Amino acid sequence: MFVTFEGIDRSGKTSQAKLLAEALGEDALLVREPGGTPAAERIRGLVKDADVALSPVAEMLLFCAARAALVDDAIRPALAAGKVVVSDRYADSTVAYQGGARGLGIDRVEQLNDWVTGGLWPDVTFLLEIEPAAAAGRRSDHEDRFEREGEELQRAVAAAYEELADRHPDRYVRIAAGLPMEEVHEQVLAELRARRPEAVR
Ligand code: TYD
Repeated sequence: MFVTFEGIDRSGKTSQAKLLAEALGEDALLVREPGGTPAAERIRGLVKDADVALSPVAEMLLFCAARAALVDDAIRPALAAGKVVVSDRYADSTVAYQGGARGLGIDRVEQLNDWVTGGLWPDVTFLLEIEPAAAAGRRSDHEDRFEREGEELQRAVAAAYEELADRHPDRYVRIAAGLPMEEVHEQVLAELRARRPEAVR
């Protein structure tokens, strides 16, 4: 089973992905995007660096390159070994940030990612929804390229995610992420149990 977490910056995805992977124990592989392989981690450094100028297309292709490496080297082998793969962001992030917020086109970027991933889409995607203003309050000291652009970008990303959730109602589970972390985690577990009782003990 392939599970992803999506949402705007500081929606709490990283914590939830970790909590889920811990709850699943050895049956799970936790990965994050961009990253997860030596090549993809180097691309991560480049795309997050707010001091490196990148055009929207260049930025999108770098995320896709990192993803292609991660799918081949980590995600597909783990799925083939019967693991539950939990990913902190995946192709929908590129569709929402570059396709939606950067204006490259949701359809086009989704189609490209279908090719980039060899048609591998998650079984379940948890969309952690939080007001951009509330997420901005969770500010960290070091801001990356996307955080530095502020709330307007985050609003455009949130709108793109809403569209994706409407497009893929069977795969998407929307969760109010303003709740305490433990409560969000319980909702995630309950949803997975309902879908795949054998995967969540
Ligand atoms: P990250 O530290 O993972 O942020 P977060 O904890 O909010 O997920 O940084 C990834 C940043 O890159 C984040 O701002 C979202 C952005 N991003 C894209 O724009 N496109 C993508 O395809 C991915 C995977 C991330």
